[in-house]
Amino acid sequence: MKTPILVTGGTGTLGQLVVPRLLEKGSQVRVLTRTARPAADGISYVVGDLASGAGAEAAVEGVGTIVHLAGSQKGDDVKARHLMAAAAKAGVEHVVYISVVGADRTPVKSAADRAMFGYVEAKRLAEEIVVASGVPYSTLRATQFHELIFTTVKALAKLPVVPAPAGLKAQPIAADEVAARLVELALGEPQGLVPDYGGPRVYAFADLARSYLKATGRRRPIIPMPAPGAAARAYRAGANLTPDRAVGSLTWEDFLTHRLAA
Ligand SMILES: NC(=O)c1ccc[n+]([C@@H]2O[C@H](COP(=O)([O-])OP(=O)(O)OC[C@H]3O[C@@H](n4cnc5c(N)ncnc54)[C@H](OP(=O)(O)O)[C@@H]3O)[C@@H](O)[C@H]2O)c1
Repeated sequence: MKTPILVTGGTGTLGQLVVPRLLEKGSQVRVLTRTARPAADGISYVVGDLASGAGAEAAVEGVGTIVHLAGSQKGDDVKARHLMAAAAKAGVEHVVYISVVGADRTPVKSAADRAMFGYVEAKRLAEEIVVASGVPYSTLRATQFHELIFTTVKALAKLPVVPAPAGLKAQPIAADEVAARLVELALGEPQGLVPDYGGPRVYAFADLARSYLKATGRRRPIIPMPAPGAAARAYRAGANLTPDRAVGSLTWEDFLTHRLAA
């Protein structure tokens, strides 16, 4: 009998792209979410909160594969700990985890590092928790999604002056391209840490903001903001980039055009 695939974060930006792709492939999908909702379109929902671990055991029951996408600015290590403990106990056969490029090479040591890059540290810790759980895994590190860059520059463009972290670059990728890769991994054998997934081009963050301003007809000064600490230094040196793995095809310019037309 076919076992369901559990998708944590199945209601998020990435998850909403992963779930229909899994359904298309004939998978049965269960989504873990903090908000109850009725089963629909072949998807069942289980209420749980990975920050506390509530509902994790029920969510993994009878599941063969988990696609673990649930994430937030803080505490992805705690979420992974709760989920992986339940998964190991239930004998789950494969967990697919989405991490971020640079998780392994961004030193987060000081309070200044943690304020801006605590998220990256939590992703590294979560990766380690997945490995240590003993559950066979496939971990994919992706660069930032166009969707996140768009939300960020849109919010910053509301300010009279747009702050841009000095020297920071990004290599944005379409979340849908990452979703396709995750589905491929979920339907295959566990592969451990797989090669990174990066967008087609690298941009200075200031240029991403500038292109948004231009495309939306706004005029704002962009002010470089110094970013102190070892983690910011690592980012300036390109820790969050993977130019040798520029596998995404949708460029930021094309994403921006489509998004603004929508
Ligand atoms: N965005 C990027 O640029 C980027 C790049 C690389 C990797 N990633 C990773 O990709 C994953 C998905 O990102 P996204 O942009 O799709 O995020 P998102 O749109 O913010 O969605 C977050 C998802 O996580 C779930 N979630 C959050 N806290 C939870 C908790 N305590 N318990 C259970 N579920 C919880 C939410 O579910 P409910 O609200 O329904 O509970 C929601 O489905 C994250 O792990 C992120 O670190 C993102």
